[in-house]
Amino acid sequence: MAKGFYISKGLGILGIVLGIAAVCTIIALSVVYAQEKNKNVESATQAPTSTATTPTAATTLDQSKPWNRYRLPKTLEPDSYQVTLRPYLTARENNLYIFEGSSSVHFRCKEPTNVIIIHSKKLNYSTTAQGHMVTLRTLEGDKAPDIDKTELVEVTEYLVVHLKGELKAGSLYEMNATFKGELADDLAGFYRSEYMDGSEKKVLATTQMQSADARKSFPCFDEPAMKARFNITLIHLSNYTALSNMQPKGPSVPFEGDPAWNITEFHTTPVMSTYLLAYIVCEFTHVEESNPTNKDVLIRIWSRPSATSEGHGMYALNVTGPILRFFEQHYNTPYPLPKSDQIALPDFNAGAMENWGLVTYRESALLFDPASSSSSNKERVVTVIAHELAHQWFGNLVTVAWWNDLWLNEGFASYVEYLGANNAEPSWNLKDLIVQNELYRVMAVDALASSHPLSTPAEEVNTPAQISEMFDSISYSKGASVLRMLSSFLSEDVFKEGLASYLKAFAYKSTTYLDLWDHLQKAVNNHSSVKLPQSVRSIMDRWILQMGFPVITLDTKTGNISQKHFLLDPESIVTRPSEFNYLWIVHISSLKNGNTQNDFWLEEASKIQDQFKTTGTDWVLLNVNVTGYYQVNYDAENWRKIQDQLQKNLLVIPVINRAQVIHDAFDLASAGMVPVTLALNNTLFLNKETEYLPWQAALSSLSYFKLMFDRSEVYSSMQKYLKKQVTPLFNHFEDATKNWTQRPENLMDQYNEINAISTACSSGLPACEALVSRLFSQWMANPNNNPIHPNLRSTVYCNAIAQGGEEEWNFAWDQFKKATVVNEADKLRAALACSKQVWILNRYLTYTLNPELIRKQDATSTISSVASNVIGQNLAWDFVQSNWKKLFNDYGGGSFSFSNLIQAVTRRFSTEHELQQLEQFKKNNMDTGFGSATRALEQALEKTKANIKWVKENKDVVNSWFTANSN
Ligand SMILES: *[C@@H]1O[C@H](CO)[C@@H](O)[C@H](O)[C@H]1NC(C)=O
Ligand SMILES: *[C@@H]1O[C@H](CO)[C@@H](O)[C@H](O)[C@H]1NC(C)=O
Ligand SMILES: *[C@@H]1O[C@H](CO)[C@@H](O)[C@H](O)[C@H]1NC(C)=O
Ligand SMILES: *[C@@H]1O[C@H](CO)[C@@H](O)[C@H](O)[C@H]1NC(C)=O
Ligand SMILES: [Zn+2]
Repeated sequence: MAKGFYISKGLGILGIVLGIAAVCTIIALSVVYAQEKNKNVESATQAPTSTATTPTAATTLDQSKPWNRYRLPKTLEPDSYQVTLRPYLTARENNLYIFEGSSSVHFRCKEPTNVIIIHSKKLNYSTTAQGHMVTLRTLEGDKAPDIDKTELVEVTEYLVVHLKGELKAGSLYEMNATFKGELADDLAGFYRSEYMDGSEKKVLATTQMQSADARKSFPCFDEPAMKARFNITLIHLSNYTALSNMQPKGPSVPFEGDPAWNITEFHTTPVMSTYLLAYIVCEFTHVEESNPTNKDVLIRIWSRPSATSEGHGMYALNVTGPILRFFEQHYNTPYPLPKSDQIALPDFNAGAMENWGLVTYRESALLFDPASSSSSNKERVVTVIAHELAHQWFGNLVTVAWWNDLWLNEGFASYVEYLGANNAEPSWNLKDLIVQNELYRVMAVDALASSHPLSTPAEEVNTPAQISEMFDSISYSKGASVLRMLSSFLSEDVFKEGLASYLKAFAYKSTTYLDLWDHLQKAVNNHSSVKLPQSVRSIMDRWILQMGFPVITLDTKTGNISQKHFLLDPESIVTRPSEFNYLWIVHISSLKNGNTQNDFWLEEASKIQDQFKTTGTDWVLLNVNVTGYYQVNYDAENWRKIQDQLQKNLLVIPVINRAQVIHDAFDLASAGMVPVTLALNNTLFLNKETEYLPWQAALSSLSYFKLMFDRSEVYSSMQKYLKKQVTPLFNHFEDATKNWTQRPENLMDQYNEINAISTACSSGLPACEALVSRLFSQWMANPNNNPIHPNLRSTVYCNAIAQGGEEEWNFAWDQFKKATVVNEADKLRAALACSKQVWILNRYLTYTLNPELIRKQDATSTISSVASNVIGQNLAWDFVQSNWKKLFNDYGGGSFSFSNLIQAVTRRFSTEHELQQLEQFKKNNMDTGFGSATRALEQALEKTKANIKWVKENKDVVNSWFTANSN
């Protein structure tokens, strides 16, 4: 599955530090996307907040009975299925939507047994004349025993068939069943999705099986290693299209003479896992390649007819062919299926799902409308497509045997999505973004004592809730980061060789991560050029079996290099033991005065110490292009010389390392390893910097300073400093864009153009304020013709509303009510929270309690947006306190947005007074409770105490630094 945070990445990427008004939006957005990330990383069907409450009923049941255990016994193995399903797209019995189904499974007995245990969830079976839910017969071998009785075990989600005799090892059996299920709008299993086509409500039926919901649409051995072939047949309304993993065997024909219904039979699938099945009945239309470059693979993009006819599928269509061809080469393996369908669903909780041959997406992850979508919307489309198509081989053709290894599947796809997307859009430098978007993002979590290792033992993952816990940023982003590191020290060619041999050896089978290590090791053994200090497995064990990562410290006076487990909070205590004592096998690359030196392994560093001793103005920099998953610290002298180099000629240092110098120093300052002024000094070169990555690193790091100080006198000197640094950048883009009339060609420049405007406006640069108010008034004068380029809308709206008054706000509100494209509505909704008028913000807050004005799903994120506005902070806090009961009753249940709300309204808390208020709030509402926000509240208390301490220690020194450096 694709990471959900793609959903708002586009907005988030606008920048982090965006001024009084803008900072609000962005922090709110980062709240939203942190939340989306959590929510959508998991499939729709899983409720990660509640995962702690793993059903324990089964553990109290008798574990000697195999149907009380969550994992299937190894007695039976499926060979193939025939599944026929008939979804009704209008409400039927008791106003429920239902589907009818029949299934037949052929399975082979591996070990004699007198019980058949197969997954089944929320299905109602028809019974046979003997009163059983299934029939059983032999296909090969001895006659099947008679059925004693059948039962459903709800806790473990099984259909259990007790037999009067034994199944024989080696025999092949057929078990048939007929059943009904609800076609609910629960985004899980076979479900229905509704959308408006003009004023008409439309219904479609679709699927989301990952991780454990195929069992909700037919009885099956629902574990990824239980691969089989599937014959899917759909009975559907005759004017609806039926799609599945494979192509239909022939044209769809009338069903039992009823002209209203057709039946479509699909070709047998290759051997595959149940979680990758898909079937859809809808009224969508598609675009396909008119001149296919690979005639063997049909490529189609499906969407609502109006989206298709407006051309919104064209971008996806244009990049899919090149991406598929790229992966065919990368894996040295042809695309395994005859077709590739991709479909945009109006109602879809995950970002996207890699069903084999029929990939499902949120609309915003597949469709692109050049008229209203920004470049980051486009980037999201190409990277999500690359992610899902990468899975068609890695994940679908070769599958990890159990969910504890999910990190390999998702980490791999999250790594190569950058390669695939880069190939489709070679001028965008997308590969560089992995450092900002995966590595730095996940390091923030992985540097806490509460982190966890990438790999989890299989026995610790049993229940659906435990499975859903695997879908977190550690699996995705740390997985991607360590695989990129591995590929870098093996070299990409050797990595690809091992990968291709792994895919060849395990096609249509399942594996564990050790199988990949074996094949990479074989490739290493074939190339004498690759020298490893230990085996691939032994090196990688350190990175995947223990949490966290090291900070590498170089002392250029002695040439000594050492490592230490990096913890953001120097006072945190690690309670999780590690057999490797939090030491890693680290591969290190270095630059000396801009020249590449030979790479080396940390354990050999003492032999080459002299290389790292410096004299005069010589400096050394480690972790070139941040291919290693670690941070770097130096002696003060070397830091100073790097700063001098950046001032003299920054181009000598690669762009990713200019970002690294900033990012690592701020983290080291948090950890108490360098003075905060050293980190601030590392931002001095920004007045000569025009590239996105270093600016982005600085703006993300400084966003915390802004939160801590934007209500104090420090903020005035901080603003002056930022204004001084950003002015050259603003002027640079003003020139480069011919006075903001065209967009820069390069994607990174487009992103940095947005940073330039946001930062310039927020620090009060008059030219910027004039620019946004000019653009916004042009729009107000001619509401049907928005002159603001989609890239710039979020920041222009926010800053114009911040500078403006009631008139601007009301105009934006009207546009929000009218907006038909969800991207546009979201930009406006966030910007409406940027006002500086207390009464306007208060009124906006009350709107969030009225679903006619702000949709319920958007209420908490809107309150969070207001809270991120420095003027709105207190108003939102008051609002949340006074409306706690109502908010709790409406949102308290299990929703993520609720715990993010607590986080958002307390984010600036850094005084004793605020701490007391928070404690009082906790006391006052004990009887109502805090539901899903309980943990967030505890964290907020914790964080407030940490903030108080940080501000006390840093306020004066930061203030003097900004004052001294703002002229
Ligand atoms: C599915 O179709 C294949 C190919 O036609 C056939 O060999 C297999 O027996 C079918 N499976 C079932 C359960 O009907
Ligand atoms: C089981 O279902 C399959 C596929 O629908 C059918 O061909 C077969 O005859 C059924 N077997 C029995 C015993 O009814
Ligand atoms: C299909 O038929 C249904 C019911 O007759 C009708 O409401 C719908 O508009 C038709 N759809 C298409 C795409 O023709
Ligand atoms: C339904 O069957 C009829 C008759 O074979 C055919 O003309 C029509 O195209 C089918 N509908 C779909 C959506 O395939
Ligand atoms: Zn994925």
